[in-house]
Amino acid sequence: MPKGLDRSLIPGKISKPLPVPSHIIRPEYVGKPGPSPHVGGDRYDAETIARIRKASKIAAQALAVVLDSAKPGMTTNDLDIIGHEFLISQGAYPSTLGYRGFPKSLCSSLNEVICHGIPDETMLEDGDLVNIDISAYINGVHGDTNGTVVIGDASQEIFDLVDRTREATHRGIRAALPGREVNIVGRAIETYAKRFNYGVVRDFTGHGVGTSFHTGLIIPHYDEPLYTDLIEVGMVFTVEPMITLGTADWDMWEDGWTVTTKDKKYTAQFEHTILITEDGPEILTEA
Ligand code: MF3
Ligand code: CO
Ligand code: CO
Repeated sequence: MPKGLDRSLIPGKISKPLPVPSHIIRPEYVGKPGPSPHVGGDRYDAETIARIRKASKIAAQALAVVLDSAKPGMTTNDLDIIGHEFLISQGAYPSTLGYRGFPKSLCSSLNEVICHGIPDETMLEDGDLVNIDISAYINGVHGDTNGTVVIGDASQEIFDLVDRTREATHRGIRAALPGREVNIVGRAIETYAKRFNYGVVRDFTGHGVGTSFHTGLIIPHYDEPLYTDLIEVGMVFTVEPMITLGTADWDMWEDGWTVTTKDKKYTAQFEHTILITEDGPEILTEA
C-alpha cells in the first residue's frame, strides 16, 4: 500500500484554548458569537496598507515556523502551540482564536480535510498531507495565509497535488490585475486544475481581509462570471484555492468546523494575502 492512502481520520481530543497575554490587543469579535459587520470597503490608504503588510509578514513567518517543525509523531495540537507562541512573541493575536467560537490559534487540515481542521491529539504520520492556516492580528488589521506540506514520504500523486495547488494559487494571484473582475481569479485557477482532472472547491472562497478578518468581498476559485466586483488599486484580499484529487463535494464533522472531501480523497490548499498595485498583485504574506 503506498503511503498516505490508508488512513481515515477521526476527531481527536481538543485541549483548552491557549492563553494570550493581556497586553496583546484582541479583535472585536473575541468573546462574541461573531464579528461585527465590516465597514470601509476593501481598498486601504497607505498607512493602513503598511499595517496590513506587517500583520501579513508576521503571519507568513508563523506559517514558515509551523510548517518547518511539522514532523511525524507530532500532534496538530503541538503545531498549534508553536504557531500560537510565535504570534504572541511578535505581539500579534492569532485571528482564528475565538473567531465565531473557533477554539484554536490556527487551522490544521490533514489529508481529506479541506479546511478548518481543529488542532487536536491526532498524530502526524509518514505520508500525511498537512495544511496549516494561520492569521495574525496586530495594530488593528489581519494578515491571513496557509500552506500545505507532505510529512515524510508519499506517492507521486500527492506531491503533484501539492505542487499543482501551489501553482494554481500563483496563477490565480497573477490574474488579479486592476480593472478586471474578481471572477478572473477563479477562471485562471479552475482552467489550470481541470487539466489534471482535479476538483476545485466552490463553497469556501478567497475574501477581503484587512481591518476585518473577512470583509464580505468574495473571491471565487472556480469559473463563475456572476462575481463581477472590480479589482482596484489599493484592494487587499486573499487567494486560497482548495484542490482535490476527486470530488469537490464536502461533508462537515459534528464539530461544526472540520470540512472533508465527500469521497475522502486528499486535498491541498495554499493561501496568500495580496495587495493590488498599479503594477499588479503584490503578495504580502511572504516571510
Ligand atoms: N484563515 C481561514 C481563511 O483562510 C479562516 C479560518 S476561520 C476559523 O479564511 F474560524 F476556522 F478559524
Ligand atoms: Co483566508
Ligand atoms: Co486563512
